[in-house]
Amino acid sequence: MKTLLTEDPAAAAALVQGGALVAFPTETVYGLGADAFNADSVAAIFHVKERPADNPLIVHIACHDQLADIAASIPRSGQTLIDRFFPGPLTVIVRRHTSLPPAVTAGLDSVAVRMPSHPIARRFLNACQCPVAAPSANHSGRPSATTWEAVRDDLGGRIDAILRGPPSEQGIESTVVDCSQEIPVLLRPGATSAEELVAVLPSLRVPRLAESLPARSPGLRHRHYAPRASVVLIKDPKEAQPHAAHAFIGTGAVQDPSGFGRCHIASDVKEYARVLFDFFRQCEAADIRTVYCQEVIGSGVGRAVMDRLRRAAAK
Ligand code: TXA
Ligand code: MG
Repeated sequence: MKTLLTEDPAAAAALVQGGALVAFPTETVYGLGADAFNADSVAAIFHVKERPADNPLIVHIACHDQLADIAASIPRSGQTLIDRFFPGPLTVIVRRHTSLPPAVTAGLDSVAVRMPSHPIARRFLNACQCPVAAPSANHSGRPSATTWEAVRDDLGGRIDAILRGPPSEQGIESTVVDCSQEIPVLLRPGATSAEELVAVLPSLRVPRLAESLPARSPGLRHRHYAPRASVVLIKDPKEAQPHAAHAFIGTGAVQDPSGFGRCHIASDVKEYARVLFDFFRQCEAADIRTVYCQEVIGSGVGRAVMDRLRRAAAK
């Protein structure tokens, strides 16, 4: 299959309406979208990504009216978050509408909903005129794609089109909050900070970083990023050993940046989040054997950075 590259959101949306799989930019990472009500297209998403069938997809919407098509009811906690954070990098899980194809939610009776804020994503979703089921546009087990080139590298030739846009400005996925149960729980730290969420929803349960809730978030059972290189978490940049087959990423300066095969010193945690997945991809392309990643304070977007670093370092 030849993958069409386009910069036209309306053309990309027309393909989705015809059942095609189209990658599109968002403020977090690129998504691989299909009409959420087309069961065959949804099945194709799992097939091309080689995604485990028990890992549900996020349904992306353009406007609040579309909520009624995919959700059975919105609890007060969910409505509070939706009112405050949509559109933006937050995903809210609520009870699903029975007419949604079961494959979208991997058979669960809840559905994950997100309304992106990125202008190209909004134009695209508006033109689709249907809710769009979309996981991150990477091959399962690879870092999420934050550029259209990364989408092409992973999925080119296997999907119908890529709606090209600029590199993702957040670079890390949306925060996922489960509001389908009595007590709302943060399932995946992401681009919206836990502190911002708790400020409007004090009842939100925020698990400690090391804690996992595999029963409630199927996606967290699967290893997110299984790098060929070994990922070593360090507190002090001095712990990184300079070598052509080693890489360093962090916010502190190393003694000899040119001694590393790849080196990125981010000016703050936001930049660290933005470049992390692309850095991992660059390291793979450069045959780096060891990636030293400096730990950050686990607050703000630092919580999401630490979460992704720990998953990448997990053996
Ligand atoms: O920023 C993002 O969220 C990006 C962009 C494209 O929107 N999407 C993304 O999708 O990261 P994905 O499929 O890579 O991650 C979705 C996460 C998975 O951990 C999945 O298990 C969880 O959300 N999830 C989806 N539906 C769920 C549900 N009903 N209950 C629990 N977890 C759910
Ligand atoms: Mg993903």
